[in-house]
Amino acid sequence: MSGEVFRPGELWLDTDGVPINAHGGGVLCHDGIYYWFGEHKIEGPAGNRAYVGVRVYASTDLYRWTNAGVALAVSTDTTSEIVAGCIIERPKVIFNRRTGRFVMWFHLEPAGAGYAGARSGVAVADAPTGPYRYVGSLRPNAGVWPRETRAEEKRLLTEVEFAAIARLKLNGGPHPEFPRDLIFRRDHAGGQMARDMTLFVDDDGAAYHVYASEENGTLHVSELTDDYLRPAGNYVRIFPGEFREAPALMKREGRYFLFTSGCTGWRPNALRVAVADSIWGPWTDLGNPCVGAAEEMATTFGAQPTFVLPAVAQPGALIFMADRWCPQNAIDGRYVWLPLAFAGSRPVLAWHAQWSLGGAF
Ligand code: GAL
Repeated sequence: MSGEVFRPGELWLDTDGVPINAHGGGVLCHDGIYYWFGEHKIEGPAGNRAYVGVRVYASTDLYRWTNAGVALAVSTDTTSEIVAGCIIERPKVIFNRRTGRFVMWFHLEPAGAGYAGARSGVAVADAPTGPYRYVGSLRPNAGVWPRETRAEEKRLLTEVEFAAIARLKLNGGPHPEFPRDLIFRRDHAGGQMARDMTLFVDDDGAAYHVYASEENGTLHVSELTDDYLRPAGNYVRIFPGEFREAPALMKREGRYFLFTSGCTGWRPNALRVAVADSIWGPWTDLGNPCVGAAEEMATTFGAQPTFVLPAVAQPGALIFMADRWCPQNAIDGRYVWLPLAFAGSRPVLAWHAQWSLGGAF
């Protein structure tokens, strides 16, 4: 892809003529420059693990991207949590006006343990392109009950309850006996599970970490501390037991919109969007915003959401960013960027084989 046009799903070359390698990504706009951060994937199925790190590209027009290097490199130190071969997914970067630092969060799975870790990694830098210094990882909100937890729920699980959950062999997807309101209590002491994630900075500078928690059954919206480095201990559970992931959060005319996919691994499924007047909810499900053929609507045009990007040069223009995964040759995963339109106050997403900012909005 080149020139002033987006071609969703097509090979997209950087300004050196090399395919862009920034999967599960997000974009930060800082001082008039866009920075696209994403997972650098290598060839073959090994590419589903991190052997390079988080790559960053820079652009002023959103069509042409220049490779700005590896923002966060994996480590060669085998005792490091981000050693080559670990899993680093869905990196997002936000800028903290108070500290003047760029803060990256990502889903981290320590090497060799599949997706059981369910941790969040944090890294910081003084310049947008890095290099980012790894700060550490955590499971959010250890010892903190979610907002609106009922008094009778504020107790740890019994051994019998623990054992009953273990017997279910939860695997990150829907389960007929999923214990909707037990998992957050099981994880109260050690911290909440956090897999697919995004970050969002509100107009007042408060930042939020949104992550698939509770064995992927429930999403959490969790405020960050003023320096954006830790959870502030203020969070809410949303869509308990509904198995939504791949969150992308945006704000329009004072309302929050949260896009999510279902949990079917690398295979695409139907998109859903929810709206709320407060980030704490209540969140109202608006259903599937995709319009098109049945297959397109059932698979989000063959892709899974990762971010919604406001194109600042064109007020109101929003780009829906998604990944068309290719797990057998991970580096060949494609980017599906589509114009996010609104019919009144409802988001609408339609397929465009080719489009540009001027033409689509
Ligand atoms: C998807 C998730 C991806 C990755 C994948 C692994 O559901 O959105 O980020 O974790 O599962 O199977």
